[in-house]
Amino acid sequence: MTAGSDIETEVRQLRDEIRHHNYRYYVLDDPEVPDAEYDRLMHRLAAIEAEHPALVSLDSPTQRVGAEPLAAFGEVRHNVPMLSLGNAFGDDEVEAYDARVRDRLGVDKVEYAAEPKLDGVAISILYRRGLLERAATRGDGVTGEDVTQNVRTVKSVPLRLQGVDYPDVLEVRGEIVMPRAGFEAFNARARASGEKTLVNPRNAAAGSLRQLDPRLTARRPLEVFFYALGECEGGAEALGATHAGILERLRDWGLRVSHLNAVVSGAAGCLGYYGEIGDRRAGLPYDIDGVVYKVNRLDQQKALGFVSRAPRWAIAHKFPAEEEVTTLLDVEFQVGRTGALTPVARLKPVFVGGATVSNATLHNMDEIERKGVHIGDQVIVRRAGDVIPEVAGVVLARRPADARPVILPASCPVCGSDVIRPEGEAAARCTGGLYCAAQRKEAIKHFASRRAMDVEGLGDKLVDQLVECGLVEHVDDLYRLDADQLESLERMGRKSSENLIEALEKSRQTTMARFIFALGVREVGEATARSLAGYFGSLEKLMAAEVDALLEVPDVGPVVAGHVHAFFRQPHNREVIERLLAARIHWDEPEIEAPDESPLAGRSYVLTGTLSAMTRQDAKAALQALGAKVTGSVSTKTTAVIAGDNPGSKVDKAASLDVPVLSEQNFMQLLEQG
Ligand code: IVH
Repeated sequence: MTAGSDIETEVRQLRDEIRHHNYRYYVLDDPEVPDAEYDRLMHRLAAIEAEHPALVSLDSPTQRVGAEPLAAFGEVRHNVPMLSLGNAFGDDEVEAYDARVRDRLGVDKVEYAAEPKLDGVAISILYRRGLLERAATRGDGVTGEDVTQNVRTVKSVPLRLQGVDYPDVLEVRGEIVMPRAGFEAFNARARASGEKTLVNPRNAAAGSLRQLDPRLTARRPLEVFFYALGECEGGAEALGATHAGILERLRDWGLRVSHLNAVVSGAAGCLGYYGEIGDRRAGLPYDIDGVVYKVNRLDQQKALGFVSRAPRWAIAHKFPAEEEVTTLLDVEFQVGRTGALTPVARLKPVFVGGATVSNATLHNMDEIERKGVHIGDQVIVRRAGDVIPEVAGVVLARRPADARPVILPASCPVCGSDVIRPEGEAAARCTGGLYCAAQRKEAIKHFASRRAMDVEGLGDKLVDQLVECGLVEHVDDLYRLDADQLESLERMGRKSSENLIEALEKSRQTTMARFIFALGVREVGEATARSLAGYFGSLEKLMAAEVDALLEVPDVGPVVAGHVHAFFRQPHNREVIERLLAARIHWDEPEIEAPDESPLAGRSYVLTGTLSAMTRQDAKAALQALGAKVTGSVSTKTTAVIAGDNPGSKVDKAASLDVPVLSEQNFMQLLEQG
């Protein structure tokens, strides 16, 4: 064997192996190897291809991006038109639909393939002899746009089918979606850099697919699910007798099919499926706007045929919308703990995403200006999953003549202090500090919260009352309350008053890290508070520390150091701390950094992407409990990056620094071992 063919063999093996891992990861949702192993294979393949350009082929897993930007998209005529679906909105409409189908077929019971209705963009992808040849949008159903180069960048779209028994011409149809987490991250980045945000994940997916530069598409977190056939040499019947059976074949060939698909019987089966998927909707990583029922047997589909542009053999059963249009009645400004003014939309109540919404966030003034929101406008309100309702956009065409711009108040709506809008910051702030009742209330809520001093039973409403009636002005006043005073408040009985006093008593025994976090220093979250406690060991040392000393603390940069230093220089803050200590708040001193017997002592992790089993905050806490450090950015000191779904650029950074990347599965093993 010559050296050349050795290389060719290795390239072939690498490609097969990578495709196999893609299939395990995207199609089966069951990866076999950690991401780091996958990355190593990709790197090896890329390195060989760089050295032997003649070996590069278009279906190589490395060849997803590379095409030059286009001037315009070409046109694609769909030989088999891309149809739309009829809609059903309630149980009775589904029952009526099933009755019509049974009637036409002359049968008592019909079997349906039930699927989630994915809220993205329809796509049609043609594989010729197993190779991705062309991808097109739906367009008007007959003519779409050629978006091949962009679709090639979507990692869950195979560039080559696996197996051997696929038809020579196989056109598959599906939906390209942007997962919610990726959408939120995209908007967060856009907000931070002053760019326009996207209204919803569907628009985001559509916009991403219509980029003329494939490199831009490649950066968007898009995913695909397949749910139908287009053209198929030999006919669909050659692949199976049922729709569900055909989707199984697609899955075998490496095409991703939703795991939520099911086969159900009759209208009752459909409605049961609708209920089940509806319950899971908020927890899914991507938006769905309903479910689709398709007559499962192909011979029955054929007998039913089509009406105008929709099949008689399928119907969409829609969920309540997650977006509605309503009137923006007013914009009020809420003042947060750090004085940031958040504009809140007061809306004409509207039922959206399963709840009545009358308030929604507008984020900040920049966002209002970018979206061009006026009071009196018809606005698009979005409430998806657990995300707080937001004003996603304006229907400009419906702007009334008396609509007026939103104006940032010059003085704080709560305390009257000046409002400033620092250069380069999105938030406008009240300058009142602890003079401002709103900031005081928020500071007290933060102080008492679970992750800070953990005062059980001290809810937001109670804090508002305590501040308003003058019983509490600063956090230390909490420890001077007695049960009689509490009992005099609204909705407070003897028992709950005594319980709160007891909870306050309990909170006196804490840790230095919790105490520092509870003080609410700007930009000092739990992790930083822990670093500060671990580094200084005593509060006096921390309070006396100069900026240079603070910069020595792991993960503390100039901004945080500046905030910490300034906080402890304020006489007012020092007084509150003194009074808190006088109120017998204490912890075991010195709090040493993770003792060496901790299983993960000395290791440092970075979390990225969405984990399915826990929030990132919990993951961080779990690692820290084992003595590990968790930091925000990847460096050569990082032990490993833990990557959930849709990880960001941190994974690339890790690869470039040779830092291992752990999957969620590896991470769980790590926790179990620890
Ligand atoms: S089947 C001939 N199945 O919904 C039937 N469509 O409202 C063609 N969609 O254009 C469509 N999930 O973009 C089908 N599981 C699913 C779907 C689905 C989402 C979209 C698709 C279609 C639109 C029709």
